[in-house]
Amino acid sequence: PEGLIVAPSLLAADFARIGEQAREVERDADWLHVDVMDYHFVPNLTLGLPVVRSLLPATTLPLDCHLMIADPRRWAVDYAEAGATNVSFHAEACDDPVALAKDLRAAGARAGLAIDRDTPVEPYLPLLENFDTLLIMTIKAGFGGQEFLPHLLDKVRTARRHAKAGHLKLRIEVDGGIADDTIAAAAEAGADAFVAGTAVFGADDPAEAVRRLRRTAQG
Ligand code: DX5
Ligand code: ZN
Repeated sequence: PEGLIVAPSLLAADFARIGEQAREVERDADWLHVDVMDYHFVPNLTLGLPVVRSLLPATTLPLDCHLMIADPRRWAVDYAEAGATNVSFHAEACDDPVALAKDLRAAGARAGLAIDRDTPVEPYLPLLENFDTLLIMTIKAGFGGQEFLPHLLDKVRTARRHAKAGHLKLRIEVDGGIADDTIAAAAEAGADAFVAGTAVFGADDPAEAVRRLRRTAQG
């Protein structure tokens, strides 16, 4: 879809009823963000393919799978083949991101490159023409509920400038600490897709939280 994307992160949902929580935001959200963690790339464990497979028929929302896993070349294509719309993997965990992007696209998904807090964006700029999404962490990957790090928006600015100059059709997605008081700055920096976990599923009314985030991002 054109315009801004709001992607609630299920990491902040109640895992005993994720289908229900997905339906709560179905009408207002654009993507459903699914954080896959493996205890290796990050010191946390969430869910994997079996849960993604169960979730797919339980929601009309496109799944935005964010793989925080070691060795994405071994696993990422499985998520594409299962039916995930977007599959993002971390640059820090992959020695040939372009090859994996091509494999993901061949499997019918949109390819996303994710960069963690301490990874500069500049080395990856020449690769971006092979990707649909650049996911820029605005925290250190691994846990929800952390404080937004505003200096990381410099990476968003750099990437947006590069994408504009090269006429790339690139989504720039920010992930971590996105809430009512941070989303406008991220949008101003050039992000056009916004992941929000705590701000959505920590709210009394997740659907209203999504609508409010969108309004605030639109300015
Ligand atoms: C953390 C995940 C995020 C997480 C963000 O590594 O990638 O998607 O859910 O959570 P909040 O929005 O609470 O910072
Ligand atoms: Zn994420």
